[in-house]
Amino acid sequence: MPVEEKEGDVSARFVGRTAIVTGAGRGIGRAIAERLASEGGRVIVGDIDGTAARATARGIRGTGGIARAERVDVTRAASVASMVRRSIDQFGDIDVLVNNAGLLRSTRAADIPAAEWHLVLDANLTGAFLVAHAVYPSMRRRGAGRIVNIASMAGRATSTLGGAHYTAAKAGVLGLSRHLAREWAPDNITVNAVSPGIVDTPMVRDATDDSRREAIRASIPLKRLADPAEIAALVCFLVSDEAAYITGTNVDIHGGELIIA
Ligand SMILES: NC(=O)c1ccc[n+]([C@@H]2O[C@H](COP(=O)([O-])OP(=O)(O)OC[C@H]3O[C@@H](n4cnc5c(N)ncnc54)[C@H](O)[C@@H]3O)[C@@H](O)[C@H]2O)c1
Repeated sequence: MPVEEKEGDVSARFVGRTAIVTGAGRGIGRAIAERLASEGGRVIVGDIDGTAARATARGIRGTGGIARAERVDVTRAASVASMVRRSIDQFGDIDVLVNNAGLLRSTRAADIPAAEWHLVLDANLTGAFLVAHAVYPSMRRRGAGRIVNIASMAGRATSTLGGAHYTAAKAGVLGLSRHLAREWAPDNITVNAVSPGIVDTPMVRDATDDSRREAIRASIPLKRLADPAEIAALVCFLVSDEAAYITGTNVDIHGGELIIA
């Protein structure tokens, strides 16, 4: 097959598809939104930070992609409902949802106040449910859908940087993903989780200094943090046609962190 033809196939994977990516103002979410758009997708860039969401969407449009920004708080059902309604009005029914919004707190278990527990659970777990719940009728109408929930190695083991609330929330995301996959498979909607190790994003930079990052880097078998684009590549595979038979699973992406020697 000529190279041009092969490249053309790959870059066209999401033409005509509408995708919502939450927490896409920066970090992993922004990389996912950019990758989906670079392959032809119409992308709704959702973030609680409206300025960051607009910057991501502007950047995508600047490179010829299709994107619109939505200021959304995924922890509030009304905010989520209006994002989904406006997205459908603008771009039609939703084909792809990437639940990526999240936040990290590092407080040790004995010191976690109830309000902080709820904040972390709401942003990382309840938010993913609320957005999936709001998008489901649209995917059902479409007769197809792809959902990827960004969990974490925190949910597979324990968190390197986060507290017990973060670990518990991410373990919850894995359970939520499995359950939705089973319930929504008859609607031809796949639901999977992706569990990154340590990714070089503002979240990680805010939680570490240079020496901590160096210690983490040294502890990872591949001797580096992940690039957000590497997480985006995996997510885009899972929401592509090639992954039609993959549902209810989790894919770890951690540079070897969880290899049991
Ligand atoms: N960076 C890592 O090492 C790592 C590892 C594993 C999992 N993750 C997960 O990947 C996802 C993205 O992480 P990141 O490192 O890019 O983080 P980040 O902090 O750089 O970006 C997260 C984005 O989510 C947005 N957000 C937070 N709360 C929100 C809310 N209530 N509603 C809407 N948007 C909200 C933030 O404004 C921000 O733009 C998170 O779910 C995180 O837990 C990150």
